Amino acid sequence: MIVSNRVAVPSRKAGASAGGLAVALNDVLRARGGLWFGWSGRIGAEQDDAVLVERGNVTYAVCDLSHEDYEEYYNGFANRTLWPLLHYRLDLTEFARRDLAGYRRVNAYFADLLLRHVRPDDVLWLHDYHLIPLAEALRARGLHNRIGYFQHIPWPSPDLFLALPNHAEIARALCACDLVGFQTERDAHNFGRYLVEEFGASACEGRRMSVAGRELRIGVYPVGIDRLGYARTAARAGRSAFIREVRESLSDRTMLIGVDRLDYSKGLTQRLDAFERVLAVAPEWRGRLTFLQITPKSRSDIPEYAAMQRALGETAGRINGLYGEANWTPIRYVNRSYTRGELAGLYRLAKVGVVTPLRDGMNLVAKEYVAAQDPEDPGVLVLSRFAGAAAVLDGALLVNPYDIDGTASAIRQALAMSGDERRWRWNAMWSRLAETDIGGWAGRFLGDLDGLNGVPAPSDDS
Ligand code: F6P
Repeated sequence: MIVSNRVAVPSRKAGASAGGLAVALNDVLRARGGLWFGWSGRIGAEQDDAVLVERGNVTYAVCDLSHEDYEEYYNGFANRTLWPLLHYRLDLTEFARRDLAGYRRVNAYFADLLLRHVRPDDVLWLHDYHLIPLAEALRARGLHNRIGYFQHIPWPSPDLFLALPNHAEIARALCACDLVGFQTERDAHNFGRYLVEEFGASACEGRRMSVAGRELRIGVYPVGIDRLGYARTAARAGRSAFIREVRESLSDRTMLIGVDRLDYSKGLTQRLDAFERVLAVAPEWRGRLTFLQITPKSRSDIPEYAAMQRALGETAGRINGLYGEANWTPIRYVNRSYTRGELAGLYRLAKVGVVTPLRDGMNLVAKEYVAAQDPEDPGVLVLSRFAGAAAVLDGALLVNPYDIDGTASAIRQALAMSGDERRWRWNAMWSRLAETDIGGWAGRFLGDLDGLNGVPAPSDDS
């Protein structure tokens, strides 16, 4: 059983635009058979049972949230407390007891609904920070099944995590799992250090820890992409009418690209400032570059996100006003989303991919940008050292996104890079992408979860 805040029920129409991760999780479920449970994305009355949608051997089980749930659990504790804190933004972290109560309540609601569907030999795989208390809520209801949890976003150092008033409750809840997985060694180390320092956990061999009388395994499972499949999609999309139109609209200008949800963790204002710095210090590039920043709006009911929408629109408008000409707009700032195929084609068209989050669990845009390139004439990736992807993509130009001058220099270096250097950097990244191929990621996590001692493995007919 997969449990996540949102559920990606595949559309019956061809060409669905689900992201790589949703596609991968669906593949895992289809291979093993199973159920995917979570929020329907709708606000309504809390339900007595989830609504089931069958697609082959996979069942999607979704439930609505009440308006209060949405405010306190999703907008509140998940996205105004945990999200900023876990992204190292103590300055934006808000703590309200009411939100914490809502967060606990929704996890208990999910636990009650899930229990109706769990069979004795099911393995449960929980995803991300919305669901930290879920394993504990399930155990409290008598569930002994094997439970794994994967943290998609960063886990900060204990110094930061201790600022959360109920840090011990949150961390202890994760210890009700059998396996907790992280994107990077740093995240896993931060969590393990917290358990040792705060709970006196004993660190055993191979990251097995003994905490509060239970054995917990911690692991590192960097999320990846299907690099060959993505490369094929990009090559095909590169010949599409849509990409032909975009290419024509550029009139031989060099395109740079950024693709991110509109989120303060993505470093978007700093990125546009760095692009402006390029235009300011290198006038030879004026009129010759187009920066396409695709930024679908996200979590707009949260004030910090609404403020950021305004700030970013103003920044893009200011730069365009300052440097634009009657026949040239430096930044194309777009608040809509594109299909997977369209994005792949745009990545292939762009000579520089600018992926500069202030902090990011992994960042699959960085990996997709690399996989989308033409091996004979690849573009250059400018990547934040604070994205989990930086641990693998060492052929990128790594930058500190807070350093506007440094990022601007890296963009200029990318624009001027020789074909030979672009090719060897791309080859290095392309090979490393194989290490974290998406099928292997899910297989490794579930293999480790299945293989743990002391809990029965799923039977063949599960
Ligand atoms: O990667 C973090 C994450 O919160 C995912 O869990 C989620 O699918 C994605 O960002 C989008 O966020 P939201 O569901 O809040 O729109």
